[in-house]
Amino acid sequence: KKRAPMPDDIRARKGGAPLVSLTAYTTPMAQMMDAHCDFVLVGDSVGMVLHGLPSTLGVTMEMMILHGQAVARGLQSAMMVIDMPFGSYEESPQQAFRNAARLMAETGAGAVKLEGGVEMASTIAFLVKRGVPVMAHIGLTPQSINTLGGYKVQGRGDAGEALMADAMAVAKAGAFAVVLEKVPATLADAVTAEVSIPTIGIGASAGCDGQILVVDDMLGLFTAFKAKFVKRYATLGADGEAAIAAYAEDVHARRFPGPEHVFGDAVPDAKA
Ligand code: KIV
Ligand code: NA
Repeated sequence: KKRAPMPDDIRARKGGAPLVSLTAYTTPMAQMMDAHCDFVLVGDSVGMVLHGLPSTLGVTMEMMILHGQAVARGLQSAMMVIDMPFGSYEESPQQAFRNAARLMAETGAGAVKLEGGVEMASTIAFLVKRGVPVMAHIGLTPQSINTLGGYKVQGRGDAGEALMADAMAVAKAGAFAVVLEKVPATLADAVTAEVSIPTIGIGASAGCDGQILVVDDMLGLFTAFKAKFVKRYATLGADGEAAIAAYAEDVHARRFPGPEHVFGDAVPDAKA
């Protein structure tokens, strides 16, 4: 079995074969994707897709650790990256280190991801110099929806220069990769060409160095809404509801349990 890549292995994939990644929050989901993904992200999207929160703002360190531990048990050959939740890193580099170290120590994650560009560069450098590999996340940063004014496309027009500056700043600070979320494809391509670290696109461009999606989105399990950038590869939510409806009908009709699901009362012969 191939060993899991390290952050430097991911960095070395710049300009090479595209990196494949998905989010995961549970052991069985992690097991499903382990052989197919270079890295798996325990995303703070867990709050929305598994816990029914209205945004990622209410996600706690405890939630991230519990889901991170579950994902770690399902991975052997993919690297695990874990999101730093809102409020766990913005205050100071010291606060960020304390919480990043806790996430890594308690889950076994090989790296953390945090949201922000130029404004987080000094924090990223502080972490990287102290043994915490950092994946950056710029463009649409969902923890900042209240200041961004919603889930809008980022970096259009003149704002493209600021996004390019964010990418250059996080790379210079030592991030080993950068997620570009919901930015124009031409800008994503320009950033990918300019920046020295792999760009991981979500709502960005097929020209990025890698792609990521929220697994519940691409499996059709999370259906409260569908972003334009989501491609649904399955309809597990609808399939699951149909299966549950069939079960309810069987119970009502006393078709379940069937003879093959129940036990006879003959005592088994211990010598046979
Ligand atoms: O939390 C998450 O799922 C993410 C990815 C969408 C990049 O941050
Ligand atoms: Na996230």
